[in-house]
Amino acid sequence: MTGKNSTKQIEDLSAAEAKRELQHLAREIKRHDDLYYAEDQPEISDADYDALRLRNAAIEARFPDFVRADSPTNRVGTAPVEAFGKVRHAVPMLSLGNAFADEDVSEFLQRVRRFLGLAGEAPLDVTAEPKIDGLSISITYEDGNLVQAATRGDGEEGEKVTANVRTIKEIPHRLKGRRVPDLIEVRGEIYLGHADFQRLNAEQAAAGAKIFANPRNAAAGSLRQLDASITAKRPLRFFGYAWGTASSLPAETQDGVVQAFAGWGIPTNPLMKICRNVEEILAYYHEIGLNRASLGYDIDGVVYKVNRLDLQERLGFVSRAPRWAIAHKFPPQEATTRLNDIDIQVGRTGALTPTARLEPVTVGGVVVSNATLHNEDEIQRKDIRIGDLVTLRRAGDVIPQIVGVVLEKRPDDAKPYKFPHRCPACGSHAVREVDEKTGRADVVRRCTGGLICPAQAKERLKHFVSRNAFDIEGLGEKQIELFFEEGRIMKPADIFTLQAREARKPADDQLVNKKGFGTKSVEKLFNAIEARRKISLDRFIFALGIRHIGETTARDLAKALGTIDEFKRAVGAAVKGGRGSEAYADLDNIEGIGETVVDALIDFYGEPHNREVLHDLLDLVEVQPFVHTRVTSSPIVDKVVVFTGTLEKMSRGEAKALAERLGAKVTGSVSAKTDYVVAGSDAGSKLTKARELGVSVLTEEEWLALVGQAG
Ligand code: IVH
Repeated sequence: MTGKNSTKQIEDLSAAEAKRELQHLAREIKRHDDLYYAEDQPEISDADYDALRLRNAAIEARFPDFVRADSPTNRVGTAPVEAFGKVRHAVPMLSLGNAFADEDVSEFLQRVRRFLGLAGEAPLDVTAEPKIDGLSISITYEDGNLVQAATRGDGEEGEKVTANVRTIKEIPHRLKGRRVPDLIEVRGEIYLGHADFQRLNAEQAAAGAKIFANPRNAAAGSLRQLDASITAKRPLRFFGYAWGTASSLPAETQDGVVQAFAGWGIPTNPLMKICRNVEEILAYYHEIGLNRASLGYDIDGVVYKVNRLDLQERLGFVSRAPRWAIAHKFPPQEATTRLNDIDIQVGRTGALTPTARLEPVTVGGVVVSNATLHNEDEIQRKDIRIGDLVTLRRAGDVIPQIVGVVLEKRPDDAKPYKFPHRCPACGSHAVREVDEKTGRADVVRRCTGGLICPAQAKERLKHFVSRNAFDIEGLGEKQIELFFEEGRIMKPADIFTLQAREARKPADDQLVNKKGFGTKSVEKLFNAIEARRKISLDRFIFALGIRHIGETTARDLAKALGTIDEFKRAVGAAVKGGRGSEAYADLDNIEGIGETVVDALIDFYGEPHNREVLHDLLDLVEVQPFVHTRVTSSPIVDKVVVFTGTLEKMSRGEAKALAERLGAKVTGSVSAKTDYVVAGSDAGSKLTKARELGVSVLTEEEWLALVGQAG
């Protein structure tokens, strides 16, 4: 064991050990702050960073005399750069679904065929091209001139990096040739070639500057330079492979448009090819895989796209990815290293997650020193012991996984790990809940400290301010950590009273006078908080951090309930009525919502403290009603539609997607609330039921005529 990264219980530390560890932690945390803030190159996950700070604070609490002048508690890292403006993507920049095995690819093709109602043998061309491991970028050309460039960001909103992109030699400032649309947003990947990456790192080393872990990080770091003249010196490259907004398109196929890109002077990948069937696709994949190392740039798979744009249009999107494309990933890269220790992180819902502390090792070009171990059973099942040599796997950006132990090399003194039965943050019992129905214990051990557990409270706050929740600029995990430890922000409402409370403090205690802050940054923070006093209902529900309610579920709830008052009323009624009540069923019947979520809502709202948190917050923020962003001019807006029987012109899936796009709600069973039943051939009981209830029944032709798709 390292000795430095002590796992000794804090109550067992001697004074000398505590002093030594505080010194070590101060140095380590400072180093990670610099890596994160100044260098854009963190070595450890946020959770691991949090664990370091938590331990530091806990040791300080027990040995207050040893709090150092340079204690991390008194410092927040160098402020993040906020100089890039934000850009909203008119057409979101989506991600891709993944295929790993050959069968996943056949399934993708089958799915596409099924959706389009194509026979198994009908021709279906797809393009195949390497998946570049760089960063995606959107470049807008107006009248052929480069007017804006933006990073992907969260897909909805990215950073404006126009000046930097203009320094990339491969990217034309003006598109050449004829038939360039008035407006076109070219999308593609910025990357750094292997040779350029090596050269850059050698130069960096010679200049005593930082070394990049891999070409992708180097490309990202090079692009996000405030000083564009630095970007100009980095040999960044580009491939165009997609587009966003366009006043018109130069072709009717994927490969036609990409060829037009090339004609306009945009670099495109010469390895793109059209494949006619799954055999051609897999042959392409294997060939690219074999040549991977000699391409000269990093790729992490192959991307397939349905070639015909009219079919792409019909296929549309499912959640965050197109139905018409898929990424076929290469198998993950592996390495072996020593497991030095296991630490426990406490999450927002009290889950205790074990993290492996590893001897740093390079896997697929990235230095890895931590990996998740998931849960206690996983450690047991794989018989992972401290001191073991373990096999690690990294696939793309995913957190590294421990695949297993190299048993032949197990040292004699390898130590089995005893999973704690008490929360390391608050000392409460940590238990595995038993499922009433199955009688089986949950895989997750949870801290029972609930509201008294500082780790949970802090994690809830971090969730509250996270990107898809309140998303307050300048108030990220690190600041929450600091403000929580100082008692400035202990619960969500505190965020919105911070400015007023600060003003009442003696000057010495005020944030503006703290090291690492200044009038300007504090003012910026207060402005950012003010800007979030209005928030959409879906973000607000997500921010509450209720168990089982992620972004999608929060959105489903917001969509169905519309306003915060209705949310409170509906959930309040379900708390009162309990399981079996009408109010319970009303929530359960919401599209996308099931019993688990309803139970979680009841657990949350049934707890007086949570109602208080909500109540306090609502005094301070304005939750805006959910806005339906869909068409309002279609003839089927808000209509409830049921499809039954076999349709001729399109598959049931496509019909459903089309109806939803036009604002209708598609359900599976006929009731008095149903507006239309669309009956294909061989329609059965649903048709009978519709007739009984007097619901309008449409033939497929009548339906297509109604939605304007006939002929
Ligand atoms: S197509 C709507 N093609 O992979 C589909 N993406 O995992 C747009 N990527 O965010 C993406 N090479 O940054 C496409 N040849 C390629 C790609 C590619 C790399 C990246 C892209 C995207 C991510 C999705």
